[in-house]
Amino acid sequence: MSFTAAKWRGHFPLLAAHRDLHYLDNAATGQLCEAALDAVTSHELLHRANVLRGTYRLAEQADAAYENARRQVAAYLNAASADEVVFTAGTTASINLVAHAFGEGLNAGDEVVLSLAEHHSNFVPWQMLRERRGVLLRILPLTADGRIDLSRLAETLTPRCRLVAVTHASNVTGAVTDLAAIVAVARAVGARVLVDGAQAVQHGPVDVAALGADFYAFSGHKAYGPTGVGVLWGRGEALAALPPFLGGGGMIGRVTVEETTYAPPPRRFEAGTPPIAQAVGLGAALDWLRVQPWADMHAHTARLAQRLIDGIAVLPGLTFLGPRDLKQRLPIVSFNLEGIHPHDACQVLDGHGVAVRGGHHCAQPLMDFFGVQGAVRASLAPYNDEADIDALLAGLKDAMRKLG
Ligand code: ALA
Repeated sequence: MSFTAAKWRGHFPLLAAHRDLHYLDNAATGQLCEAALDAVTSHELLHRANVLRGTYRLAEQADAAYENARRQVAAYLNAASADEVVFTAGTTASINLVAHAFGEGLNAGDEVVLSLAEHHSNFVPWQMLRERRGVLLRILPLTADGRIDLSRLAETLTPRCRLVAVTHASNVTGAVTDLAAIVAVARAVGARVLVDGAQAVQHGPVDVAALGADFYAFSGHKAYGPTGVGVLWGRGEALAALPPFLGGGGMIGRVTVEETTYAPPPRRFEAGTPPIAQAVGLGAALDWLRVQPWADMHAHTARLAQRLIDGIAVLPGLTFLGPRDLKQRLPIVSFNLEGIHPHDACQVLDGHGVAVRGGHHCAQPLMDFFGVQGAVRASLAPYNDEADIDALLAGLKDAMRKLG
């Protein structure tokens, strides 16, 4: 299958409707692919019913579609079984699920290790757990260019470490985590590993079997699927060892007045009516993404990221956040121009039809590390092209003229 950005763009209805838009905020949300849109529409038109409850034909069709989506997610992740896939509301919900279900088994003095590069969704739930259970949070420091400093692993992961929760790739710098190194040290001290995959899933299939972690969390909307749905993948035995987090319909074995027994995973973690059509849409998106020519697409987005990095390198007063070597990062580029507030820059860029995010990117500890309050961030997807980068660079020059 040959790849061109123009052909890929054709699979995204919003981009076809907004031909003048230079959409470079893919780290916030990817655009919805037509495979997902078609699957959601057809499900809602033809097969809408609640799941895992009804015995009539329509309900059985909805059950089949929902469980098929689980298998499609499992295939994208190379999971051992579809039963390792829990549908949630998104990455944040997935991480909170683990922070509660796994966290309630922790005690004062147990340690949870995070990195300084985490999104707030992988910081705050653990701070809340610290309040509830008295666990100690240890923070993996970063190298000067914002990568997790692997030389500090051994001293940070002590025998009291119960869980390491780290991002697969930073939503600010795009820096990709060396998970193999972290998993190896975590295993040596008997700790579980949770990976925040929110950014990584957008850039191709993930092999959880090869990563060796215990939990992997991500959102559907970043992977060109619907909003409101996400996934917690858990290794079979790791999920089986967890108590439920939310109680309600669908997650039970038997309820009596005296007590409740719980269903096995994944249903144990899916109390209430799940995001059914959204899960069906996500399954369709991942099924389509799984067979895309990723090597060509990575080469394309890396070329664009390089064009952007080279373009901003010559701007006066530039501060660049993150590693410059594209082999160590996703095509997410964050930077500041001296004297220009990121929000102001974004506003001028919007006037050029360029959509980028500016601010702290829900990563304030990382901003503190870099000594900035915020940054402008351009995050690239395979449907972007040279015209998008050039519009951004032209807009930045205009912002410097107007605001600098
Ligand atoms: N986590 C998303 C971002 O980085 C919302 O923009």
